[in-house]
Amino acid sequence: MSLYLETDAGIFAVQSKKPNRLFRMEKKNHEIEWAKVVSKMFMLVAWLIVGIIILSGLLLNYPYALLTVDKVELAPEQSEAQAAQPQKIETDYFSADFGVSKLGNSMYEESVKYGFALVSETYKYIGPENGDPKMVYTGNNLACKNCHLNSGTKKHSAPYIGVTTRYPNYRGRENKIGSIEERVNGCMERSMNGKKLPTDSKEMRAIVSYMTWLGRNVPSGEKFDGVGFTKVNLPDRAVDLAHGAQVYTEKCVSCHGAEGAGLKNGNGLGYTYPPLWGKDTYNHGAGMNRVITAAQFIKGNMPFGATSENPMLTDEEAYDVAGYIDSKDRPIKSNTDTDYPDLKRKPVSTPYGPWDDEFSAEQHKFGPFKPIMEHYQNQYGIKKTK
Ligand code: HEC
Ligand code: HEC
Repeated sequence: MSLYLETDAGIFAVQSKKPNRLFRMEKKNHEIEWAKVVSKMFMLVAWLIVGIIILSGLLLNYPYALLTVDKVELAPEQSEAQAAQPQKIETDYFSADFGVSKLGNSMYEESVKYGFALVSETYKYIGPENGDPKMVYTGNNLACKNCHLNSGTKKHSAPYIGVTTRYPNYRGRENKIGSIEERVNGCMERSMNGKKLPTDSKEMRAIVSYMTWLGRNVPSGEKFDGVGFTKVNLPDRAVDLAHGAQVYTEKCVSCHGAEGAGLKNGNGLGYTYPPLWGKDTYNHGAGMNRVITAAQFIKGNMPFGATSENPMLTDEEAYDVAGYIDSKDRPIKSNTDTDYPDLKRKPVSTPYGPWDDEFSAEQHKFGPFKPIMEHYQNQYGIKKTK
């Protein structure tokens, strides 16, 4: 008998009189087919895995994430400048056009332009020497942009881009949900050593309009790289003031001066180089008077021209020089004892008491900070980074 078997492997002519021989052939052909199905399925799964890897790589911008080292770490309860953790890197919101001169004359655009002027030349409009006693709100002649560089558009200089989308949010200092206006007034009372701007004042509206306009491309609540300050790995030791003084002399004194008094503008209002200590600068309740915050600001922005991508100081230099400038005298803010109703929320480097721990005032001011951070982690499960 002659029999043809058609399989994927070809056509077989089976010639046999023995039925059990035919049976064996059929069985063998089934095995071949089964092996093909399995291998096809295996290939499919393999391609699926490759596909998933490529797709997730694209979505997470994996290669860029690898290159980005300046990430700020912060505990969730400290939602502030650094609260918007860069988790994934998306659109570069810093490359938009922030030139206010091209804006029109609508009421909103006028407000944005006034807001830009206010943060850039604060002293001229609401400073102690602006000429109109009714309009004096700040206690020093700084400008917001002295710390929020490029008028709030520089990466890792606590930029204003997208800031309005992150408020209202939780504020440890008051232990409540705070608005963007309250946050601005936080800097008014501390960094600017002044008093609150009324929420419905033309000035407050303008500052918030400007911030809103800067973040016009940022989706609500979006987290992106560049927010807050750059990361500094804190040395496992207290600030070395002698080293800080040396760094200051080598890398800061040329602009900020031997007495830290800076250099006034030619017209006498405001500063070309702002003061770092003394009467006309941020008070002792300001964020910049915390060594960790100052070190992070300095690392990403000073000497002038430094960026988080191209810093000019090592972490140790930034830490020691931050301690050095914060060791100097400055205006005293009243009522700081009522800051942080929940003391567990107080940043470890807040230099004034009371604290909810046994560490000395000296250690809260100059470190080492890691033991204090570990204490809060172990005792209360609170992760602190500043
Ligand atoms: C002496 C430096 C300094 C000056 C001047 C200053 N700030 Fe700030 N500002 C800071 C620091 C430091 C932080 C972050 C504080 C922290 O991390 O605790 C901050 C945070 C902020 C935030 C929150 C940012 C965020 O990402 O959540 C806003 C809004 C703000 N400042 C507005 C202003 C305005 C408006 C002015 C001017 C009226 C001003 N600041 C002047 C140092 C300054
Ligand atoms: C080339 C001049 C220059 C050098 C050098 C320089 N700065 Fe500054 N610094 C500036 C300017 C300008 C600003 C204000 C930025 C602005 O308004 O755009 C500033 C702002 C600051 C501020 C925030 C504003 C304030 O008054 O507190 C601090 C803090 C600061 N510098 C610390 C330092 C430290 C520390 C060094 C040395 C490591 C340093 N700077 C070196 C020019 C300089």
